[in-house]
Amino acid sequence: MCGIVGYVGHKSAVPILLKGLKKLEYRGYDSAGIAVLNSGSIDVVKKVGKLEVLEEHVGHKNGGACIGIGHTRWATHGRPSDTNAHPHTDCTGRFAVVHNGIIENFQELRGWLKEEGHSFKSETDTEVLVHLFEHFYRGDLVTALRQVMEKVEGSYAMVILSLENPGQLIAARQDNPLIVGLGEGENFIASDIPAILEHTRQTYILNDGEVVLVTSDQVQVFDRQGNPVHKEVFHVQWDMEAAEKGGYDHFMIKEICEQPKAIRDTLKGRLDLEKKKVVLKEIGLDKEAIERIDRIFITACGTAYHAGLVGKYVIERMVQIPVEVDIASEFRYRDPLITENSLVIVISQSGETADTLAALRMAQKKGARVLAITNVVGSSVAREADDVIYTWAGPEIAVASTKAYVTQLIAIYLLSCYLGQLRGTVSGEQLEEIIEALVRLPGQAEAVLKQQTQIREMARRWAKWEDAFFIGRSLDYAVAMEGQLKLKEISYIHAEAYAAGELKHGTLALIVEGVPVIVLATQKEVYEKTISNLQEVKARGAYITAVAFESDQEIGKLVEETIYIPDTISLVAPVLTVIPLQLLAYYAAVERGSDVDKPRNLAKSVTVE
Ligand code: F6R
Repeated sequence: MCGIVGYVGHKSAVPILLKGLKKLEYRGYDSAGIAVLNSGSIDVVKKVGKLEVLEEHVGHKNGGACIGIGHTRWATHGRPSDTNAHPHTDCTGRFAVVHNGIIENFQELRGWLKEEGHSFKSETDTEVLVHLFEHFYRGDLVTALRQVMEKVEGSYAMVILSLENPGQLIAARQDNPLIVGLGEGENFIASDIPAILEHTRQTYILNDGEVVLVTSDQVQVFDRQGNPVHKEVFHVQWDMEAAEKGGYDHFMIKEICEQPKAIRDTLKGRLDLEKKKVVLKEIGLDKEAIERIDRIFITACGTAYHAGLVGKYVIERMVQIPVEVDIASEFRYRDPLITENSLVIVISQSGETADTLAALRMAQKKGARVLAITNVVGSSVAREADDVIYTWAGPEIAVASTKAYVTQLIAIYLLSCYLGQLRGTVSGEQLEEIIEALVRLPGQAEAVLKQQTQIREMARRWAKWEDAFFIGRSLDYAVAMEGQLKLKEISYIHAEAYAAGELKHGTLALIVEGVPVIVLATQKEVYEKTISNLQEVKARGAYITAVAFESDQEIGKLVEETIYIPDTISLVAPVLTVIPLQLLAYYAAVERGSDVDKPRNLAKSVTVE
């Protein structure tokens, strides 16, 4: 879960590497480093801490170098330290490597390399890569890297800088993202598009097992066996602004505010408003295949898993097929009863989450068809799934997921309508009602966002709390799960979500005078029951914040404070109820002085299990 960048061209490499790393900091940020080639030596600067620390140390040094590699790290093997930061060099100082991933057999390789006379400086798994490279190098970069790849087990995206081959970078990937940016008289390598977008929109997206040799005017791709591979150029549509903060204090609030547009974009082209139907041309599942499905599994991690919880309710209601939802790290090891008639839905913003990807592969091995809901075109999940529904949320930079979550919900509604249409389990009337509700959502989300000033005020009180409880029933419970995660991950306030009816089976013991409880009350079928639960916590003196439809003014009389969302059907309410919870978490975190976009111990893309 690190960020990699490489540059070769006619410009000074250092500022390009540092700027590229800045755009990749969301991938990890406990240490950073660069290595550049000067005449006669590879010069490395690496520092524990955020990128600014590295920038200070680099200063104006190495301004003449036109080739180099950079890295921003999220520690896996070896604690964050200057020594463990990348790049790592071999004993002779002829090679430097940056790496994202985990080398599983590094202990064994390290032992063997030591016997061969190599001495190690760091505690990392990565360092074996550069020693192996040195071991195999006989004058040809591609051959040496292919030999390294044969020896190592695990996942990697890596780039190597070589003193012996000035003007050439060699890189490879396995289970971790790596792209090449194609410039004029210069070329780039990176873990992700924002790192190179300032320089080029033309890219190659590397596949697992591919090796790439990059010079300032040539990019050659090879497969694992060393055969040349022809790559199609992938033209990036995003504008730079979409990957930048655009005037907001944090990426997170920018991304929360982008939700109306993200919802619109995800719906675009997928609704036939005349025929009142959902059109998902990207899905290969035909009527016959859909008829065969007897069970649906949804698997994902974190926020994406919470979107899956909503998915269970919605799909079961609309498609009449039993749905199981699992956290991917559980799913992959519990030997689920998947058959050829199962449909497995994986949800992942990044499309690179290790556990989700492993769950996808396991499901395919068991013969199931896998449908992915993801935000990143060309991501591993997108490439490996049988069908993909993209959430057009645009790049999500803040670690805490917001717009990706709401677009995942939209994708779930679209998919449920689509499956329901083909299986005949939803009536024309129901479809019409849902489609109309979906069309209204972007405007309604804008209306919720207009309450920011009021919500910011509330968050001032929230910021003083150390514990909070979120309760709701049915889809409100699924959203409560997401609300509590948002609050704790960025404000560090301890929070728990409960199915409202479950509270009295133990946790009610914690509800005493002044304890904050957030009650979500938008689900018509269980509304009265939810109000009874609200009364239970009220009777114990809880400080209650309700989230309810604006037509429900009565609830306001029962509680300390209420956030109203525009009226809609219960089924799509989660898209609106989650927004105030995101805003409350955000403003509480700001009030408490947290590093909102980069909460402690977390990283955006979790590519290790
Ligand atoms: C929380 C958050 C994480 C991710 C999780 C899965 O705000 O963002 O819980 O949802 O790490 O990531 P993806 O969706 O990229 O698979």
